Amino acid sequence: MLNIGVLVSGRGSNLEAILTSIERGSIRGARVSVVISNDPAARALRVARSHGVKAVALPSEGLAREDYGAKLAAALGEHGVMPGSGLVLLAGFMKILPKSFVEMYEGRMMNIHPALLPSFPGLEAQRQALSHGVKVSGCTVHFVVPEVDAGPIIVQRAVPVEEGDDEGSLSSRILRQEHRAYPEAVRLFVEGRLRINGRRVEVRR
Ligand code: GRF
Repeated sequence: MLNIGVLVSGRGSNLEAILTSIERGSIRGARVSVVISNDPAARALRVARSHGVKAVALPSEGLAREDYGAKLAAALGEHGVMPGSGLVLLAGFMKILPKSFVEMYEGRMMNIHPALLPSFPGLEAQRQALSHGVKVSGCTVHFVVPEVDAGPIIVQRAVPVEEGDDEGSLSSRILRQEHRAYPEAVRLFVEGRLRINGRRVEVRR
């Protein structure tokens, strides 16, 4: 059984999509062992508990980035999410992780971003896409590397940008695809079908 740790900061809808996929059996051979939030008030912690998953608040205030990374690694380890055998998912996690932590979980940590990377990395990706005037946007699930929103791409799903879209309407169209893309990427990982080859992720069919 693969142990998954999910790091969150907010709403937790991607977390919920992944939990539901496991419960429905579309992801087999893995369980979410712990959900950790830097924000104790995050809705995502309630989502975790409502699915019977251990939810931990780990505030980062007053801690240097390296020290916070060490605390996160310890909390993941306590719940069996080990470097080299576990899987870490960033799902709306708003802290930047130290290089040491990223390297510890290299090839075993994913993030979801609400744009078609490498376009529009960083904050407010949907707003960036709208103001740039692109006609297509979407979401990207990628492996995490020390640079933000830059790792090898696992799954992308595109959506049209419609006339009259605002940040809210575009974000919800993208979010519906996030809820399909993230469980898909996790399933491929759990099934052992992903191989990182430089910048590329090869997906065995
Ligand atoms: C999503 O749009 C995700 O792409 C971004 O943060 C948001 C998290 O939403 N990284 P939720 O907490 O999963 O509902």
